[in-house]
Amino acid sequence: MAEGGSERPLIRDITELPGIGPTTAQKLVEAGYSTIEAIAVATPLELSNATGIPLQTAAKIVKAAREAVGFTIKTALDLKRERLSAKKITTGSKNLDELLGGGVETKNITEFFGEFGSGKTQICHQLSVNVQLPEEQGGLEAKAVYIDTEGTFRWERIEQMARGLGLDPDKVMENIYWVRAINSHHQMAIVEELFGFIKRENVKLLVVDSLTSHFRAEFPGRENLAMRQQLLNKHLHQLMRLAEMLDVAVVITNQVMARPDVFYGDPTQAVGGHVVGHAPGVRVQLKKSRGNKRIARIVDAPHLPEGETVFVITEWGIRDPE
Ligand code: GTP
Ligand code: MG
Repeated sequence: MAEGGSERPLIRDITELPGIGPTTAQKLVEAGYSTIEAIAVATPLELSNATGIPLQTAAKIVKAAREAVGFTIKTALDLKRERLSAKKITTGSKNLDELLGGGVETKNITEFFGEFGSGKTQICHQLSVNVQLPEEQGGLEAKAVYIDTEGTFRWERIEQMARGLGLDPDKVMENIYWVRAINSHHQMAIVEELFGFIKRENVKLLVVDSLTSHFRAEFPGRENLAMRQQLLNKHLHQLMRLAEMLDVAVVITNQVMARPDVFYGDPTQAVGGHVVGHAPGVRVQLKKSRGNKRIARIVDAPHLPEGETVFVITEWGIRDPE
């Protein structure tokens, strides 16, 4: 059986859905549901709340959207082929690539988590450059979208990393789309909008750096835990759908404290851990080591061997230690 949707355009206009007139369409678009895919990943309640469309109607619209997107019954062999067809982007470090089973993969979410300065943002920058490389050099000859929630994206760093690979820095910078997310709501709305953009622009890497900072700031403490978890869950779900449907590597970062006792005692960590833990993603813990050395360790990934490795952050970017 063919992989769902590979023979037809993935992103279609919402007015193609049965029962959606111009008024409803307008309400949906105004609320940010401008593609069938965006509606398909929404829940009826959420759609109804966001648009004012009655719940029953919203349920019909979501159902129609999900049918339009299509579900496919697959054999185990299909699943195997899909897994094998996931493409990999090199991190710049062979050690780290090996740990990841060849690099950061498309159709999946890879989370880098660790304390401040552990290299999360550096890896995101490096991947945004590397995705542009030809396949024989570990890239996908494609572009990157970088959702920056903390204002830590630096084009200067991209320039340096491009030079480090002997690439034309301006060309490399032209292929990285930067979006600043100003709050959690905005962050999620951006992802909805990106379905169409990513498809059109040959984007194979979506970075969300950081996934969690806005959510933590806006929903602090235990009393807001449930709400935060719910929203993060929805966000991750959105990202997973995007990764799978558009064959994109989604890379997210998550700052956590270094001390294990704090780490396990902190409810925010449990949230991040839990939520991402349940998504079929890859979680990589980063730790600072001596000088520019960093330690990476895979956390609860059944399909990857356990173990840790060392990489370095150099002037030219992510590399193996000498
Ligand atoms: P938070 O976002 O604060 O949680 O940290 P992070 O994990 O994103 O850390 P980041 O990736 O920003 O790593 C910062 C480290 O990368 C710094 O401590 C430096 O060691 C290194 N680094 C950043 N920029 C450069 C650079 O231009 N040259 C070199 N050689 N190293 C750099
Ligand atoms: Mg950072």
